[in-house]
Amino acid sequence: MLTDIERHELEAAVKHYPDKRAGAIDALLIVQRRRGWISDDSVLDIAQFLGMTGEDVDSIATFYNLIFRKPVGRHVAFVCDSISCWIMGYEQVCARIKERYEIEPGQTTRDGRLTFLPIACLGHCERAPAMMIDQDVYGCVTPDKVESIVEKYR
Ligand code: FES
Repeated sequence: MLTDIERHELEAAVKHYPDKRAGAIDALLIVQRRRGWISDDSVLDIAQFLGMTGEDVDSIATFYNLIFRKPVGRHVAFVCDSISCWIMGYEQVCARIKERYEIEPGQTTRDGRLTFLPIACLGHCERAPAMMIDQDVYGCVTPDKVESIVEKYR
């Protein structure tokens, strides 16, 4: 069930749309910000609020790669695996993350601090390779810069 705060935030987010179903991504992001990820129960809560089916909301949540359908760490490190970043050092950056934080793509550190996820183009191709932690985008990432970037996020 949505909390009063969640319901208030959702109502504010969808009021600008002629059809509140158009606010499905906004709704998913709001609930995710409150709950950390989007569980099956969260999908149903959102679907009920928007007047949609759970399957419809689930398909949007699954398609949109900033929506987490499994629990994630306190911070999420997205590393771009699209062509420019791949050419410019994606594999070396990933190797450093794996080695330093002992996680594979899709995994979370044992202390729950960091989840590591590949992601499609972040729109910073001119500064490849790029990574994003939470909302912060970093360009020209090298293996030697990985730790100084990640250590800002406790
Ligand atoms: S290809 Fe990586 S940011 Fe565009």
